[in-house]
Amino acid sequence: MRLDPFSGPYSRDPATTWRRINATARSISYDDDLEMWLIAGHDNVRTVLSDTARFSNAATLAPITALTADAADILAGLDAPAVAVAADRPQHLRTRAILRALMPATAVRAEQQWGPLVAARTNDLIVDMKVTEPADLMHFAVQLPLLVIHDVLGLPTTAAPQVRAWTDDFAELVWGNPSPEAQIAQAYSSVTLWRYCADIVNGRADRGDYGPGLIGELLRYRNNDDSNLTIAEVAALALNIVGAGWITTAGALGNALAHALADPGRWAQLADNEHYLNLHVEEALRHSPAIDGWLRLTTTDVTLDGVTIPTGGRCLVLIGAANHDPAVYAEPDVFDPRRGRAGQHLAFGAGPHYCIGAALARLELTTALRALAGRLPDLAVADGFRQQFKTSAALRQLTRLPVRQQPPGRCPIAHGTTAGPRS
Ligand code: HEM
Repeated sequence: MRLDPFSGPYSRDPATTWRRINATARSISYDDDLEMWLIAGHDNVRTVLSDTARFSNAATLAPITALTADAADILAGLDAPAVAVAADRPQHLRTRAILRALMPATAVRAEQQWGPLVAARTNDLIVDMKVTEPADLMHFAVQLPLLVIHDVLGLPTTAAPQVRAWTDDFAELVWGNPSPEAQIAQAYSSVTLWRYCADIVNGRADRGDYGPGLIGELLRYRNNDDSNLTIAEVAALALNIVGAGWITTAGALGNALAHALADPGRWAQLADNEHYLNLHVEEALRHSPAIDGWLRLTTTDVTLDGVTIPTGGRCLVLIGAANHDPAVYAEPDVFDPRRGRAGQHLAFGAGPHYCIGAALARLELTTALRALAGRLPDLAVADGFRQQFKTSAALRQLTRLPVRQQPPGRCPIAHGTTAGPRS
């Protein structure tokens, strides 16, 4: 079976490929082009993500596309210790437990800790939006989580545009299909991002002034004792959070906005119907997960669903296909916020590596959708919009979401033949 994640059709509409994969008898197969095992099926994906003993995270951040020797040499400079998403036990459990203790896991606690800052960032971005002209809503979808993750970590937002560029390069290097020339630049960016995090953490530790945000809290937890956390581990956790924190949420917010704007009825409900708002967010996470493929490496021969994956088998875990498994979701390609069981989606993973930032991501999604729909009730997708995602085997982020203020009395669905995502 082939996934072909770097092709035009997949970047326009991955759900068509998931439908084909879900319709085949074998939910686990080897992709000769990617040289990876494809794991589909809701049960299989949940099992693989949860079974950290047999499916390792050691190569989760290793590039899918083979690197040139020069690019690999440069990337070797990213010598961060393995923590959280890049680690296996016991290192994973140790570093995750520290993050767990410092980061809210429930909606109520996330609102208490981060609600005001997310609301303030949302408000400022809306005030700055100029929708008298057609605008690209992906700018908002990127800026909100980018700025919020800087606030959460206690990083200066002056460097946010640079951090964005470095993270984009890292994501393209790991989950994209870059040319040899692009690999060199992206490898430099990845190492620079790591050194940026390391310099900030080292500087604060040296001064004994640990500073604000999660970095400050991690340094205080460290308490100058390497047996609690080393300085390098604090920096690696900051890198993990910066990497995981904004790019995923930008994709999820863009996808949730596109689904919302595809139907004026949905947009109107988001402003004042909290129940619908939460259902909409969960269905967007299910239907269009921002991470729809994720990597694992087998530590032993594993037989799953009748197929044996040998030791050292690289697996691409198809979260998107799992979220469209017809055995779990009736008419899975239809965007239906009122369907049952949407909450069983695997958008945030499953088991020991389950997303640490899920509560923050949900807070950002609900805050942004509520505020945008309330303040800009006449927003509509620009005529002629066709969804196009960045090319990636893992991340699903729209390249653009052009919007305009809808003239009074005009319905975008009735008039726009191509407006809105398939939903
Ligand atoms: C909608 C947005 C997000 C999505 C779709 C998402 C998705 C995921 C997924 C699928 C995993 C599991 C990885 C694995 O099994 O190896 C994960 C883990 C993780 N996420 Fe998120 N994430 C999002 C937002 C965030 C945010 C906002 C943060 C930070 C504040 C964050 C931090 C992390 C971390 C640190 C891990 C690793 C946890 C561990 O290995 O124990 N994520 N995320």
